[in-house]
Amino acid sequence: MIKLSKSCIDSKEKEAVLRVLNDEYLGMGDSVKKFEEKLSLYLSNNVSCVSSGTAALQLALEACGIKRNDEILVQSLTYVASFQAISATGAIPVACDIDDKSLTICLKDAKKKLSNKTKAIMPVHYSGGVGNLSSIYKFAKKNNLRVIEDAAHAFGTEYNSKKVGSFGDIICFSFDGIKNITSGEGGCVVSSNQEVINYVNDSRLLGIEKDSEKRYLSERSWSFNVKNQGWRYHMSNLNAAIGLEQLKKVNKFFKIRKSLAKRYDANFLKSKYISSISRNYDEVVPHIYPLRIMKKFNREELRSYLLKKNIQTGLHYQPNHFLDKFFKKKLTLPVTERIFNQIITLPLHPDLNLKDIDYISKTLKDVLKEI
Ligand SMILES: Cc1ncc(COP(=O)(O)O)c(C=O)c1O
Repeated sequence: MIKLSKSCIDSKEKEAVLRVLNDEYLGMGDSVKKFEEKLSLYLSNNVSCVSSGTAALQLALEACGIKRNDEILVQSLTYVASFQAISATGAIPVACDIDDKSLTICLKDAKKKLSNKTKAIMPVHYSGGVGNLSSIYKFAKKNNLRVIEDAAHAFGTEYNSKKVGSFGDIICFSFDGIKNITSGEGGCVVSSNQEVINYVNDSRLLGIEKDSEKRYLSERSWSFNVKNQGWRYHMSNLNAAIGLEQLKKVNKFFKIRKSLAKRYDANFLKSKYISSISRNYDEVVPHIYPLRIMKKFNREELRSYLLKKNIQTGLHYQPNHFLDKFFKKKLTLPVTERIFNQIITLPLHPDLNLKDIDYISKTLKDVLKEI
């Protein structure tokens, strides 16, 4: 079976986890500190590691003082994690349409949805691409908005020759099992604003002031103060140990991901029915490979046909404005709704090779001629 995505690990991660187990200190400690230091070096920025990408987004919003009934602009075509992280703070995710080339937030639509309650914009780096990020920052500056980048898909991606995470307001990554690098589960908040990082360092540990410093030394605070709502969202040494090994492999991983996506693009270039998402894979590290089918088709039938040929596929994503929790009467997002009917995601992970990509491409092209 060719998997849609998977964790790509070897004996290095297994040995690292074993070392933590042998240490008998599994919680947040020295490995988390080291992982943060290495991430800081890689991104040239300040980093706070947390338990998931969703937690990173929630704490980043809270660090900006986002509160009940504030409004956050976000594209509807994203994982429900972006929406749930916003609503966890009490704020309201305002579902925006997407640009039909990049599949990232449509600024024209975001501008229409701006209100006096709008406090932030959350650009989602769908599949690894960042869209027109400098326009988003200009728009945010003009309207006094914070920018919290949902960069769950974009670890390693560059924009104007700078790594995502090395510039901007607040950037949140996910290291869940299938991301560009994994720590098993995990995520991080990145910002040059030290106040944001200090806030997250405390709020990930129930709001206990400066507890992170104790934890790094395998200790904990016994007398402390708490000023803000906090959560148990810190990262464990077990997860950080995996992340540290993965970080050593970024060059290899990213080279493979880019070359596989380029091969798909080349295979589909002349296809009548398949349209690739426009990405420059010299800059973008693709996390997933969604594409658009430009003819009427039944997605579930196509997916089960491909499954019979040992090819797993995915759907990134059901628009969030279709979900009961976030549904708003009268809201239609024409581009999102059109593109949602066209998309399907093909396998992409560093344990695949070009032969696999050719097999998947040919199988898809053949079946589209028949249906
Ligand atoms: C776009 C997007 N945002 C946020 C997240 C949340 O990350 P995590 O699963 O680590 O909570 C994901 C995870 O898949 C995602 O795809």
